[in-house]
Amino acid sequence: MGALKFPSFALVLLVTVTRLLVGAESKTFWGDIEVLKEVKNAVDRNSVNPGSCLSSWDFTVDPCDNLFSESFTCGFRCDIVVSESSRVTELSLDQAGYSGSLTSISWNLPYLQTLDLSNNFFYGQIPESVSNLTQLSRLGLSRNMFSGEIPTSIGSLSSLEELYLDNNNLQGNIPASFNGLVSLKRLEIQSNKLDGEFPELGSLKNLSFLDASENAVSGNVPLTLPESLVQISMRNNSLQGKLHPQSFKNLAFLQVLDLSHNNLSDSVPLPLFTHPSLQQLTLSFNSFTSVQSPPFPLTTVLQSEAIAIDLSNNELRGFLPSFMALMPKLSALSLENNKFSGGNYLYGPIPDRLMELQPGFADVRLNDNCLYRCPVSFFFCRGGDQKSPVECLMLCPREFKGRGTDAHKVLFGHASPCAPDPSGKCQKIDDVYSLHV
Ligand SMILES: *[C@@H]1O[C@H](CO)[C@@H](O)[C@H](O)[C@H]1NC(C)=O
Ligand SMILES: *[C@@H]1O[C@H](CO)[C@@H](O)[C@H](O)[C@H]1NC(C)=O
Ligand SMILES: *[C@@H]1O[C@H](CO)[C@@H](O)[C@H](O)[C@H]1NC(C)=O
Ligand SMILES: *[C@@H]1O[C@H](CO)[C@@H](O)[C@H](O)[C@H]1NC(C)=O
Repeated sequence: MGALKFPSFALVLLVTVTRLLVGAESKTFWGDIEVLKEVKNAVDRNSVNPGSCLSSWDFTVDPCDNLFSESFTCGFRCDIVVSESSRVTELSLDQAGYSGSLTSISWNLPYLQTLDLSNNFFYGQIPESVSNLTQLSRLGLSRNMFSGEIPTSIGSLSSLEELYLDNNNLQGNIPASFNGLVSLKRLEIQSNKLDGEFPELGSLKNLSFLDASENAVSGNVPLTLPESLVQISMRNNSLQGKLHPQSFKNLAFLQVLDLSHNNLSDSVPLPLFTHPSLQQLTLSFNSFTSVQSPPFPLTTVLQSEAIAIDLSNNELRGFLPSFMALMPKLSALSLENNKFSGGNYLYGPIPDRLMELQPGFADVRLNDNCLYRCPVSFFFCRGGDQKSPVECLMLCPREFKGRGTDAHKVLFGHASPCAPDPSGKCQKIDDVYSLHV
């Protein structure tokens, strides 16, 4: 009996040691190891610099089990254990200058939640197989050299909340399959070469941030935009045509809208000036010809949250939209380089508000219009000349020519600054209309 004591002690010791090992380690699922190997093999060897995450990956030992040790210093996480196997949940490479094509990788990492390869030199197509990443909630491929079209298969990633494809060389259409990204909150596809029309993305009920700027997107601004949007930028594309008021009416949370550097035309819709949450409206460098003014009385404008409005460098004609001076929070207003005429804008109670603005409190730029009574004693009239009188005479809106200047109509913004004139030329309205009502 006594002879059995030592072996049973040894057995207990052995079991304990094994338990400890199991507690400390959980071997990586073999399939996940295969994908990690595929990733390492896909990266051009001479782009793997000493000290980078990938340079440490040494598959003679188990990845998840040796994570943060010398063999796998960084680059991924294994936060889930399924059937006693560790699963890779995050693959976030460092910005170490990696290059390579990812198309041969199967991306069979069913528990991956984050894939972030941004700020490297990865090239080639974005592989169709990323759709194998069914649990993915964040995909970051920003600032690489990816080219070709965005694979439509990305649209099957129904758990995806953030998609960053910006600053690559992607071309072709923005796939309508994005409508399958029902969890998406943030979409960044700016600074690529994407063209075609912007798809209707009404299914993205949670999308709050959309940046599609610096592309070649053409056609109209979509009629239905996700109602959850807070920020929209489609700056510097080839958008054209009219902005439809109903595109923005239902965007109850919108705070920032930047559609500058496009070729949008016709009028700037009224809902943008009476919007209950819009703070920053940037429509400069387009071909807008008019601004829809709110009806009198101007109480709707008083609810505006607008802080900065930039309508500069358009073709805006006619009256200065002086109702903007009633916007209680407006502190930066750019209307320069338009074709505003109207001679004397100093009429009615509204311009008084504009005149009360103090330098430093507000930044108003009106130069290069036809406001030839913009007194330089007001800081916002400085900083640039108005257009020449000869040019301004030619800008007198045709529909206004020869019409009377009824004082009330002037105040309500419906009449003309161009008095009846046998010569057909514009005249500025008189100071007699500097009424206070
Ligand atoms: C997903 O992975 C499998 C390998 O298991 C592969 O055959 C398939 O092509 C992948 N899916 C896509 C869309 O590439
Ligand atoms: C949208 O967001 C809400 C709140 O964050 C969440 O409850 C809901 O599940 C999300 N919807 C989808 C389709 O992800
Ligand atoms: C607009 O984008 C083009 C490239 O598509 C670029 O060359 C140009 O500088 C951009 N313009 C502005 C004003 O950002
Ligand atoms: C802008 O659109 C107008 C039509 O509305 C067109 O005549 C003009 O050529 C366009 N300009 C550019 C630069 O695309």
